[in-house]
Amino acid sequence: MNEFVRQLPKVELHLHIEGSLEPELMFELAHRNHIEIPFNSPEEVKQAYQFSNLQSFLDIYYQGANVLVHEQDFFDLTWAYLMRCREDNVVHTEIFFDPQTHTERGIAFETVVNGITRALDKANHELNISSQLIMCFLRHLDEASAFQTLQQAIPFKDKIIAVGLDSSEQGHPPEKFARVFEKAIEEGFLTVAHAGEEGSAQNIWDAIELLKTSRIDHGVRCSDDPHLVETLAQQQVPLTVCPLSNIKLKVFETMEQHNIAELLRAGLCVTINSDDPAYFGGYMNDNFNAVANAHQLSKKELAQFSINAINASFIAPQAKEDLISSVWQYTESH
Ligand code: HPA
Ligand code: ZN
Repeated sequence: MNEFVRQLPKVELHLHIEGSLEPELMFELAHRNHIEIPFNSPEEVKQAYQFSNLQSFLDIYYQGANVLVHEQDFFDLTWAYLMRCREDNVVHTEIFFDPQTHTERGIAFETVVNGITRALDKANHELNISSQLIMCFLRHLDEASAFQTLQQAIPFKDKIIAVGLDSSEQGHPPEKFARVFEKAIEEGFLTVAHAGEEGSAQNIWDAIELLKTSRIDHGVRCSDDPHLVETLAQQQVPLTVCPLSNIKLKVFETMEQHNIAELLRAGLCVTINSDDPAYFGGYMNDNFNAVANAHQLSKKELAQFSINAINASFIAPQAKEDLISSVWQYTESH
Protein backbone atom coordinates (compact mmCIF):
# COMPACT_ATOMS: atom_id res chain seq x y z
CA MET A 1 0.00 0.00 0.00
CA ASN A 2 2.83 2.41 0.79
CA GLU A 3 4.04 1.93 -2.78
CA PHE A 4 0.59 2.86 -4.14
CA VAL A 5 0.54 6.04 -1.99
CA ARG A 6 4.06 7.03 -2.99
CA GLN A 7 3.26 7.62 -6.65
CA LEU A 8 -0.42 8.55 -6.36
CA PRO A 9 -0.82 12.14 -7.67
CA LYS A 10 -1.77 14.27 -4.66
CA VAL A 11 -3.09 17.78 -3.97
CA GLU A 12 -2.41 19.49 -0.65
CA LEU A 13 -4.92 22.09 0.63
CA HIS A 14 -3.91 22.63 4.25
CA LEU A 15 -0.27 23.52 4.80
CA HIS A 16 1.08 26.39 6.88
CA ILE A 17 4.36 27.34 5.27
CA GLU A 18 5.75 28.46 8.64
CA GLY A 19 4.90 24.94 9.88
CA SER A 20 7.23 23.39 7.32
CA LEU A 21 10.29 24.98 9.00
CA GLU A 22 12.48 21.98 9.81
CA PRO A 23 14.77 22.28 12.87
CA GLU A 24 17.88 22.10 10.65
CA LEU A 25 16.77 25.13 8.60
CA MET A 26 15.68 26.88 11.81
CA PHE A 27 19.25 26.55 13.06
CA GLU A 28 20.76 27.68 9.76
CA LEU A 29 18.55 30.79 9.64
CA ALA A 30 19.12 31.60 13.33
CA HIS A 31 22.84 31.56 12.64
CA ARG A 32 22.55 33.53 9.39
CA ASN A 33 20.35 36.22 10.98
CA HIS A 34 22.08 36.30 14.40
CA ILE A 35 18.89 35.36 16.24
CA GLU A 36 18.99 33.60 19.60
CA ILE A 37 16.90 30.45 19.90
CA PRO A 38 16.48 28.58 23.18
CA PHE A 39 17.92 25.31 21.83
CA ASN A 40 21.44 23.93 21.41
CA SER A 41 20.84 21.61 18.47
CA PRO A 42 18.18 20.51 15.97
CA GLU A 43 17.80 17.32 18.06
CA GLU A 44 16.94 19.42 21.10
CA VAL A 45 14.30 21.25 19.05
CA LYS A 46 12.71 17.95 18.04
CA GLN A 47 12.66 16.83 21.70
CA ALA A 48 10.68 19.96 22.56
CA TYR A 49 7.89 19.06 20.12
CA GLN A 50 5.63 17.36 22.69
CA PHE A 51 2.22 19.01 22.65
CA SER A 52 -0.81 18.68 24.89
CA ASN A 53 -3.22 20.75 22.80
CA LEU A 54 -3.34 23.40 20.03
CA GLN A 55 -2.12 26.27 22.23
CA SER A 56 0.96 24.40 23.46
CA PHE A 57 1.93 23.91 19.81
CA LEU A 58 1.19 27.50 18.76
CA ASP A 59 3.46 28.90 21.49
CA ILE A 60 6.49 27.03 20.16
CA TYR A 61 5.49 27.50 16.50
CA TYR A 62 5.38 31.31 16.69
CA GLN A 63 8.74 31.26 18.46
CA GLY A 64 10.25 29.20 15.63
CA ALA A 65 9.05 31.71 13.03
CA ASN A 66 11.29 34.42 14.59
CA VAL A 67 14.26 33.20 12.55
CA LEU A 68 12.52 34.27 9.30
CA VAL A 69 13.69 37.79 8.47
CA HIS A 70 14.74 38.33 4.85
CA GLU A 71 13.01 37.59 1.57
CA GLN A 72 15.60 34.87 0.93
CA ASP A 73 14.58 33.15 4.20
CA PHE A 74 10.97 32.92 3.04
CA PHE A 75 12.19 31.64 -0.33
CA ASP A 76 14.39 28.97 1.29
CA LEU A 77 11.56 27.88 3.60
CA THR A 78 9.09 27.54 0.72
CA TRP A 79 11.58 25.88 -1.60
CA ALA A 80 12.43 23.23 1.00
CA TYR A 81 8.71 22.40 1.30
CA LEU A 82 8.35 22.20 -2.49
CA MET A 83 11.22 19.72 -2.67
CA ARG A 84 9.20 17.56 -0.27
CA CYS A 85 6.18 17.95 -2.56
CA ARG A 86 8.25 16.58 -5.41
CA GLU A 87 9.33 13.61 -3.28
CA ASP A 88 5.73 12.85 -2.28
CA ASN A 89 4.28 13.46 -5.77
CA VAL A 90 2.20 16.43 -4.64
CA VAL A 91 1.33 17.99 -8.00
CA HIS A 92 -0.61 21.00 -6.69
CA THR A 93 -0.51 22.76 -3.33
CA GLU A 94 -2.48 25.62 -1.77
CA ILE A 95 -0.42 27.01 1.07
CA PHE A 96 -1.23 29.27 4.01
CA PHE A 97 0.94 32.00 5.39
CA ASP A 98 0.40 34.14 8.51
CA PRO A 99 1.46 37.71 7.66
CA GLN A 100 0.77 39.02 11.17
CA THR A 101 3.35 36.62 12.67
CA HIS A 102 5.93 38.57 10.67
CA THR A 103 4.58 42.13 10.37
CA GLU A 104 4.21 42.24 14.18
CA ARG A 105 8.02 41.74 14.33
CA GLY A 106 8.62 44.56 11.87
CA ILE A 107 9.04 42.41 8.74
CA ALA A 108 7.42 44.02 5.69
CA PHE A 109 4.37 42.28 4.19
CA GLU A 110 6.01 42.34 0.75
CA THR A 111 9.18 40.65 2.04
CA VAL A 112 7.08 37.67 3.07
CA VAL A 113 4.91 37.49 -0.05
CA ASN A 114 7.77 38.03 -2.48
CA GLY A 115 9.96 35.34 -0.92
CA ILE A 116 7.16 32.76 -0.90
CA THR A 117 5.87 33.52 -4.41
CA ARG A 118 9.36 33.48 -5.93
CA ALA A 119 9.71 29.86 -4.77
CA LEU A 120 6.17 28.96 -5.91
CA ASP A 121 6.85 30.40 -9.39
CA LYS A 122 10.15 28.55 -9.66
CA ALA A 123 8.46 25.26 -8.69
CA ASN A 124 5.78 25.86 -11.27
CA HIS A 125 8.39 26.27 -14.03
CA GLU A 126 11.03 23.80 -12.93
CA LEU A 127 9.12 21.07 -11.05
CA ASN A 128 5.71 21.33 -12.73
CA ILE A 129 4.10 21.81 -9.31
CA SER A 130 1.23 24.32 -9.45
CA SER A 131 0.10 26.30 -6.42
CA GLN A 132 -2.04 28.98 -4.84
CA LEU A 133 -1.37 31.20 -1.86
CA ILE A 134 -3.85 31.83 1.01
CA MET A 135 -3.35 34.54 3.62
CA CYS A 136 -4.58 33.65 7.13
CA PHE A 137 -5.65 36.07 9.85
CA LEU A 138 -4.55 35.14 13.36
CA ARG A 139 -7.81 34.79 15.26
CA HIS A 140 -6.24 35.58 18.66
CA LEU A 141 -5.51 39.13 17.38
CA ASP A 142 -8.26 41.71 17.03
CA GLU A 143 -10.51 42.70 14.15
CA ALA A 144 -8.61 45.96 13.58
CA SER A 145 -5.35 44.08 13.02
CA ALA A 146 -7.10 41.76 10.53
CA PHE A 147 -8.53 44.76 8.65
CA GLN A 148 -5.08 46.33 8.51
CA THR A 149 -3.62 43.07 7.17
CA LEU A 150 -6.36 42.86 4.52
CA GLN A 151 -5.45 46.38 3.43
CA GLN A 152 -1.80 45.36 3.07
CA ALA A 153 -2.83 42.43 0.87
CA ILE A 154 -4.77 44.46 -1.67
CA PRO A 155 -1.73 45.39 -3.84
CA PHE A 156 -0.89 41.64 -3.92
CA LYS A 157 -4.34 40.45 -5.04
CA ASP A 158 -2.88 38.76 -8.10
CA LYS A 159 -0.69 36.58 -5.83
CA ILE A 160 -3.18 35.73 -3.05
CA ILE A 161 -6.32 33.82 -4.00
CA ALA A 162 -8.07 33.58 -0.65
CA VAL A 163 -8.11 34.62 2.98
CA GLY A 164 -8.31 32.14 5.87
CA LEU A 165 -8.47 32.04 9.65
CA ASP A 166 -6.09 30.17 11.95
CA SER A 167 -4.50 30.15 15.44
CA SER A 168 -6.43 29.66 18.72
CA GLU A 169 -9.98 28.54 17.96
CA GLN A 170 -11.24 28.49 21.56
CA GLY A 171 -12.63 31.90 22.49
CA HIS A 172 -12.21 33.32 18.97
CA PRO A 173 -15.26 32.17 16.97
CA PRO A 174 -15.86 32.92 13.27
CA GLU A 175 -18.27 35.79 14.04
CA LYS A 176 -15.34 37.86 15.37
CA PHE A 177 -14.15 38.14 11.74
CA ALA A 178 -17.49 38.30 9.87
CA ARG A 179 -16.98 41.94 8.81
CA VAL A 180 -13.36 41.38 7.73
CA PHE A 181 -14.40 38.43 5.58
CA GLU A 182 -17.27 40.43 4.08
CA LYS A 183 -14.76 43.10 3.04
CA ALA A 184 -12.33 40.45 1.72
CA ILE A 185 -15.09 38.96 -0.45
CA GLU A 186 -15.93 42.46 -1.75
CA GLU A 187 -12.27 42.81 -2.72
CA GLY A 188 -12.46 39.56 -4.71
CA PHE A 189 -10.79 37.10 -2.34
CA LEU A 190 -12.18 33.59 -1.81
CA THR A 191 -12.52 32.47 1.81
CA VAL A 192 -11.63 29.44 3.92
CA ALA A 193 -11.39 29.03 7.72
CA HIS A 194 -10.12 26.67 10.39
CA ALA A 195 -13.19 25.47 12.29
CA GLY A 196 -14.10 22.42 14.35
CA GLU A 197 -10.51 21.44 15.12
CA GLU A 198 -10.72 21.98 18.89
CA GLY A 199 -13.79 24.20 18.68
CA SER A 200 -17.44 23.23 18.36
CA ALA A 201 -19.53 22.01 15.43
CA GLN A 202 -21.30 25.40 15.69
CA ASN A 203 -18.04 27.04 14.54
CA ILE A 204 -18.32 24.99 11.32
CA TRP A 205 -21.89 26.18 10.72
CA ASP A 206 -20.78 29.77 11.41
CA ALA A 207 -17.74 29.57 9.12
CA ILE A 208 -19.99 28.40 6.28
CA GLU A 209 -22.82 30.85 6.93
CA LEU A 210 -21.05 33.96 8.22
CA LEU A 211 -17.69 33.72 6.45
CA LYS A 212 -19.01 32.10 3.21
CA THR A 213 -16.10 29.66 3.13
CA SER A 214 -15.29 27.52 0.08
CA ARG A 215 -14.05 24.81 2.43
CA ILE A 216 -13.47 24.09 6.12
CA ASP A 217 -9.97 23.52 7.48
CA HIS A 218 -10.02 20.52 9.86
CA GLY A 219 -13.80 20.31 10.55
CA VAL A 220 -13.48 16.95 12.31
CA ARG A 221 -15.72 18.00 15.22
CA CYS A 222 -18.65 17.90 12.76
CA SER A 223 -19.29 14.39 14.11
CA ASP A 224 -20.82 15.99 17.23
CA ASP A 225 -23.78 17.15 15.09
CA PRO A 226 -25.43 14.54 12.82
CA HIS A 227 -27.45 17.20 10.98
CA LEU A 228 -24.19 19.02 10.14
CA VAL A 229 -22.59 15.79 8.86
CA GLU A 230 -25.62 15.25 6.62
CA THR A 231 -25.42 18.82 5.31
CA LEU A 232 -21.66 18.59 4.63
CA ALA A 233 -22.24 15.39 2.66
CA GLN A 234 -25.22 16.74 0.74
CA GLN A 235 -23.52 20.03 -0.20
CA GLN A 236 -20.09 18.43 -0.64
CA VAL A 237 -18.46 21.04 1.59
CA PRO A 238 -14.78 20.07 1.59
CA LEU A 239 -12.96 19.36 4.86
CA THR A 240 -9.16 19.67 4.80
CA VAL A 241 -8.34 17.10 7.47
CA CYS A 242 -4.84 16.76 8.94
CA PRO A 243 -4.55 13.30 10.52
CA LEU A 244 -1.05 13.41 12.10
CA SER A 245 -1.68 16.94 13.37
CA ASN A 246 -4.90 15.78 15.07
CA ILE A 247 -3.03 13.01 16.89
CA LYS A 248 -0.12 15.25 17.94
CA LEU A 249 -2.50 17.92 19.27
CA LYS A 250 -4.69 15.30 20.94
CA VAL A 251 -7.86 16.02 18.99
CA PHE A 252 -8.04 12.19 18.79
CA GLU A 253 -6.10 9.84 21.04
CA THR A 254 -5.10 7.36 18.34
CA MET A 255 -5.25 7.14 14.54
CA GLU A 256 -7.63 4.19 14.93
CA GLN A 257 -10.04 6.52 16.75
CA HIS A 258 -9.79 9.23 14.07
CA ASN A 259 -13.08 9.80 12.23
CA ILE A 260 -11.63 10.45 8.75
CA ALA A 261 -12.46 7.01 7.32
CA GLU A 262 -15.98 7.18 8.74
CA LEU A 263 -16.50 10.61 7.13
CA LEU A 264 -15.14 9.38 3.79
CA ARG A 265 -17.46 6.37 3.88
CA ALA A 266 -20.39 8.66 4.73
CA GLY A 267 -19.74 10.46 1.44
CA LEU A 268 -18.19 13.70 2.72
CA CYS A 269 -15.62 15.53 0.61
CA VAL A 270 -12.75 14.85 3.05
CA THR A 271 -9.10 15.34 2.09
CA ILE A 272 -5.74 14.44 3.67
CA ASN A 273 -3.19 17.17 4.44
CA SER A 274 -0.07 17.74 6.52
CA ASP A 275 -0.83 21.07 8.34
CA ASP A 276 2.59 21.76 9.97
CA PRO A 277 4.71 18.81 8.83
CA ALA A 278 7.96 19.89 10.53
CA TYR A 279 6.16 19.87 13.90
CA PHE A 280 3.80 16.93 13.50
CA GLY A 281 6.14 14.27 12.16
CA GLY A 282 5.12 13.85 8.57
CA TYR A 283 4.47 15.20 5.09
CA MET A 284 1.69 14.10 2.73
CA ASN A 285 2.69 10.47 2.19
CA ASP A 286 3.22 9.95 5.92
CA ASN A 287 -0.33 11.21 6.52
CA PHE A 288 -1.80 9.00 3.78
CA ASN A 289 0.08 5.95 5.07
CA ALA A 290 -0.92 6.55 8.70
CA VAL A 291 -4.61 6.69 7.71
CA ALA A 292 -4.34 3.76 5.29
CA ASN A 293 -2.71 1.54 7.91
CA ALA A 294 -5.06 2.42 10.77
CA HIS A 295 -8.27 2.08 8.74
CA GLN A 296 -7.48 -0.61 6.14
CA LEU A 297 -8.31 1.70 3.25
CA SER A 298 -8.55 0.29 -0.27
CA LYS A 299 -6.64 1.81 -3.20
CA LYS A 300 -9.93 3.20 -4.47
CA GLU A 301 -10.57 4.94 -1.14
CA LEU A 302 -7.06 6.39 -1.11
CA ALA A 303 -7.54 7.66 -4.65
CA GLN A 304 -10.86 9.21 -3.55
CA PHE A 305 -8.95 11.45 -1.12
CA SER A 306 -6.98 12.77 -4.10
CA ILE A 307 -10.11 13.22 -6.21
CA ASN A 308 -11.79 15.08 -3.34
CA ALA A 309 -8.78 17.40 -3.00
CA ILE A 310 -8.79 18.15 -6.72
CA ASN A 311 -12.51 18.97 -6.60
CA ALA A 312 -12.04 21.10 -3.47
CA SER A 313 -9.05 23.01 -4.90
CA PHE A 314 -8.95 26.38 -6.64
CA ILE A 315 -7.59 24.73 -9.82
CA ALA A 316 -9.28 25.81 -13.11
CA PRO A 317 -12.06 23.45 -14.33
CA GLN A 318 -10.24 21.93 -17.34
CA ALA A 319 -7.06 21.30 -15.35
CA LYS A 320 -9.21 19.65 -12.65
CA GLU A 321 -10.67 17.24 -15.19
CA ASP A 322 -7.22 16.35 -16.51
CA LEU A 323 -5.92 15.70 -13.00
CA ILE A 324 -8.94 13.58 -12.07
CA SER A 325 -8.34 11.43 -15.18
CA SER A 326 -4.69 11.00 -14.24
CA VAL A 327 -5.63 9.82 -10.73
CA TRP A 328 -8.13 7.22 -12.02
CA GLN A 329 -5.69 6.07 -14.68
CA TYR A 330 -2.99 5.60 -12.07
CA THR A 331 -5.40 3.76 -9.77
CA GLU A 332 -6.56 1.36 -12.47
CA SER A 333 -3.02 0.50 -13.53
CA HIS A 334 -1.50 0.00 -10.03
N1 HPA B 1 -4.77 25.21 13.84
C1 HPA B 1 -4.82 26.51 14.08
N2 HPA B 1 -3.82 27.32 13.77
C2 HPA B 1 -2.74 26.82 13.19
C3 HPA B 1 -2.65 25.48 12.92
C4 HPA B 1 -3.72 24.63 13.25
O1 HPA B 1 -3.74 23.40 13.03
N3 HPA B 1 -1.43 25.28 12.36
C5 HPA B 1 -0.83 26.48 12.27
N4 HPA B 1 -1.63 27.42 12.78
ZN1 ZN C 1 -3.92 24.36 10.09
